Amino acid sequence: MNQPTAYTKEYEQYLDNPEAFWQKQASLIDWYTKPKTILSKDNNDYFRWYADGELNTSYLCLDYHVDQGRGEQLALIYDSPVTGQKLSFSYRELRDQVALFAGGLRDLGVTKGDRVIIYMSMVPEAVVAMLACARIGAVHSVVFGGFAPEELAVRIDDALPKVIVTTSCGIEVSKIIPYKPLVDEAIALCKHKPSKTVVLHRPEYRANLLPEQDIDWDALISFSSPVAPVPVMGTDPLYILYTSGTTGKPKGVVRDNGGHAVAMRYSMETVYNVRAGDVYWAASDVGWVVGHSYIVYAPLLTGCTTIIYEGKPVRTPDANAFWRVCEEYGVKTLFTAPTAFRAIRKEDPDASGLTNYDLSKLERLYLAGERLDPTTYEWLLNNTGLPVVDHWWQTETAWAIASNPVGLEMMETKAGSATVPMPGYTINILDDHGDQVPNGEQGNIAIKLPLPPGTLSTIWNDHPRFYKSYLSTYPGYYLTGDEGYLDEDNYLFVMGRCDDVINVAGHRLSTGKMEEIVSSHDAIAECAVVGIEDQLKGQIPMGLVVLKDGASIETDTLTQDLKQMIRSKIGPISCYSRTLIIKRLPKTRSGKILRRILRQVIDGKPYSVPSTIDDPMIIR
Ligand code: COA
Ligand code: AMP
Repeated sequence: MNQPTAYTKEYEQYLDNPEAFWQKQASLIDWYTKPKTILSKDNNDYFRWYADGELNTSYLCLDYHVDQGRGEQLALIYDSPVTGQKLSFSYRELRDQVALFAGGLRDLGVTKGDRVIIYMSMVPEAVVAMLACARIGAVHSVVFGGFAPEELAVRIDDALPKVIVTTSCGIEVSKIIPYKPLVDEAIALCKHKPSKTVVLHRPEYRANLLPEQDIDWDALISFSSPVAPVPVMGTDPLYILYTSGTTGKPKGVVRDNGGHAVAMRYSMETVYNVRAGDVYWAASDVGWVVGHSYIVYAPLLTGCTTIIYEGKPVRTPDANAFWRVCEEYGVKTLFTAPTAFRAIRKEDPDASGLTNYDLSKLERLYLAGERLDPTTYEWLLNNTGLPVVDHWWQTETAWAIASNPVGLEMMETKAGSATVPMPGYTINILDDHGDQVPNGEQGNIAIKLPLPPGTLSTIWNDHPRFYKSYLSTYPGYYLTGDEGYLDEDNYLFVMGRCDDVINVAGHRLSTGKMEEIVSSHDAIAECAVVGIEDQLKGQIPMGLVVLKDGASIETDTLTQDLKQMIRSKIGPISCYSRTLIIKRLPKTRSGKILRRILRQVIDGKPYSVPSTIDDPMIIR
């Protein structure tokens, strides 16, 4: 019989007694009141972790480390090639700034449970604003700056924030994007009117302040006084993060304080093998879950130094930007999306720039957010000589569902695989009837309930949608929306989404929303938007459209129209750029558009036509 490995031992401990396992992990954080109830059910009859524990996430990220003697250690480094600015903050400095801004929010009437929307560029104050909300028990909802006013408005009307915090502008390479006018436009579109907008002025753009509505960040904190962390219950929400679902309306993923803090800390050790004092860099954006979990919360909960980088992997100024940052700050762990490395590889195919940098402190590269294609995996492996860890997770889970459990042991890697389930997750591959498929066969990836701490507890204000989207398909399981298979060694291969969500340059977008927009074009009778393969961005959206009878329009003109419409309604990150005019869409007899087949046909992949299709000729 094989000896159990460190991973199998830990995984079995979880399987044997999940509550005991997560009780042990919970004992490693500093609660105000330690939880006695580890797993329970809420009024929605859904599982919750640590219901009677009391804690404060901002305290754990900041004050706790100061109290432990790490006050002078760097907590946060801000590196902004787009402005030429570099700043750093010790744990003590960051705590003081957070406490002061929390005082400012309190002066604006924000109290425990109130929502605050944060629509900011990648500046340290974005981190300050998030932690300030956590400090007073307010619930933040960060909206990525690449979203257009309409998308922001939908989130405002759903979260009903008391206050919005924004920067006067964002900076995209050399382009200044005024954010404040976008916020004004969003508020004008909303039914709900937040009582105040706090504006952090950046020197690159001075916004016009509306006397009744707006308040300058500096003015606010010049009158405020620091506040202490407010204890919250383990199940009180820390944040809402909207993510794309299959319909046009985004889903407000709700994250609890208690389970989140425990899971973040556990993942830093088990997945990333980092400890207090290590420099950890997630090259992402605070608007995405990677930014929430691994720019802000997990590194600070662990006592690491984290980096907020306002730039791109290329063009700021070149394809060496990531290596420069790694050398300059002694980064131990770098985490980003595969698309970032595809962009670097495109500009520097031989990675010749890399040899000019001292990367001796860099131990491992982590990739997630989209499928890590074998070419990028090999390129990284061969050129950096570093272990490359592909791990799979979602906004909904906040941390890796499957990864190489590096902190327990570095397992053999396989290109295209996210390795094995993390302790806490039981993964099953199910067919459409809910039956488990044999290893090697592809199916729907489902996770047995209960999900571990840190994962979503509901959809904000819409538990029925939570149930319908994730829990109703296979009773007793959470449906991930991804498809894939387990191989003969139980390694997980995630092959892509089986719903209408696409991943453009690591940005998760809904084709359903795009279809709403495309079908509103005067010339279009019917459409489907599918994600097609793109060498740089992984996927890009393509519209297949059926024109109204008698309508006549050139494909190029139509594409320009649709590009503009989607850009102005969703935002520039949508990257819509291709349209195909067709006679009819392939549908099942019940009227369901066969998107998977459309994708396969366009990508030139083999496909099979189900017997239920009403007219197979249409896709020839
Ligand atoms: N605010 C406003 N606009 C933004 C924005 C933001 N925060 N982020 C992106 N945009 C805009 C860009 O300026 C660009 O606009 P343009 O069409 O007018 O030029 C558009 O949205 C598309 O941006 P992006 O997808 O970033 O494309 P790019 O060509 O500028 O860069 C990459 C390509 C691959 C370098 C870039 O997508 C990248 O770094 N990806 C990594 C993604 C990532 O970290 N994902 C997070 C999950 S881990
Ligand atoms: P997001 O919620 O934006 O993090 O996107 C989550 C989705 O990205 C998942 O459901 C997957 O489709 C995809 N994804 C994330 N990480 C990986 C990975 N390592 N391999 C394959 N797909 C991934």
